[in-house]
Amino acid sequence: MNQHEHPYGIGLAYRFNVHAEAVAHRSEIDLLEISTEDYIVRERRTYSDPNERLLKDALGTFPCVAHGLSLSIGTVGELNETYLNATNRFLEEHGLNVFSEHLAFHSVDGNDLTMFLAIPFEEVAVQWVKENYYAVRRRLGRPFALENVTYSFPAPHSSLSEADFLRRICEETDCTLLLDVTNVFNNSRNHGYDPIEFFDKLPMDRVSQMHLAGGHQLPDGRWEDSHSAPVMEEVWPLFDEAVKRSANVRNVILERDSKLRPFASVMQDIRKAREIFYSHRPTVAPDVPAPGYSEVDVAGPDPLHPEFSGLRSFQRTLMGRISDPSFREEFLANAPEAVKKFGLTDPAWFQRIVDCDGRLVHEFEEAWDYFQKEDREVADDYEKREWAAWADQLGPGGW
Ligand SMILES: [Fe+2]
Ligand SMILES: [Fe+2]
Repeated sequence: MNQHEHPYGIGLAYRFNVHAEAVAHRSEIDLLEISTEDYIVRERRTYSDPNERLLKDALGTFPCVAHGLSLSIGTVGELNETYLNATNRFLEEHGLNVFSEHLAFHSVDGNDLTMFLAIPFEEVAVQWVKENYYAVRRRLGRPFALENVTYSFPAPHSSLSEADFLRRICEETDCTLLLDVTNVFNNSRNHGYDPIEFFDKLPMDRVSQMHLAGGHQLPDGRWEDSHSAPVMEEVWPLFDEAVKRSANVRNVILERDSKLRPFASVMQDIRKAREIFYSHRPTVAPDVPAPGYSEVDVAGPDPLHPEFSGLRSFQRTLMGRISDPSFREEFLANAPEAVKKFGLTDPAWFQRIVDCDGRLVHEFEEAWDYFQKEDREVADDYEKREWAAWADQLGPGGW
């Protein structure tokens, strides 16, 4: 049997730079979560494990699950074919069965923010995610899990709560949930709700995976999931409660993207997670039915369908405010006139755009400008490396 079929237990988000440490702790780390983007995005691969030597060793040593990043399932737009093809190829090639992505939107008209924005908690967005989910499911040939994300601000005047939005997605699709417990904690603090009531509203039997990550409180009082620190003390009791309520959870992944050393600090979190998980769940992986796949008859997503026009123009306008300096000025000078550029005519959606927290939108603008600059530097550096590699292969006088 393929060891990646249904990994069980407590795992670590795999980072190539702690490969040796992870292998050395194989007896306590039950599985690894592979970030697919680390291997399908060419610049990222160049910086990690170009010939996938370490990856292959990791896949041979541990049961693994896969986690994607760039889907942007909430965006009313065309699906990213390059992403879908590359992800599908990666999962097939490595025999990975369990896949998850984020319930968010961050990419509009080809511009990727690389930071999550909350999908408006509205019924129309539930319907959009449903159609997109089934299109992706068809392409990947498997159901997959959706992760709750942290968000800086919700779309104003949403008619559903975040928990009801997640519940509706579960009712409309056969997705499972990747419950990021740190994200629940942060969102509950930042947006003022009770995390236990949040669990009360969720279909906890649909939780198949969990995430735990470190974070901290910023000077302005907001909580952030930095992925660069130990899991915060306040998160552990919530994790305990979540595991207790999730009869079908198969695995939990500790996410630490940086400050992975001393590795003893990572292992401290792993051990604590094990203690809690195995106090509620069997130590031997319970059997689950063999994975099957059958088509579900749901119409393909049509981003130009009038049903989605309000949501689509809201997303395009918000992205315009963040990423387009001249639109930012036009919007500030005369919002009703400026939004016509993105076809925003619905008064309710217009009000949502106007009432987005200006200070928080501005933070995204600054981050966007910064990342644009950084991306250019990475692309330039990649090109230089590629030329150098070619010159090396050709040898002196190779031309
Ligand atoms: Fe994630
Ligand atoms: Fe996460």
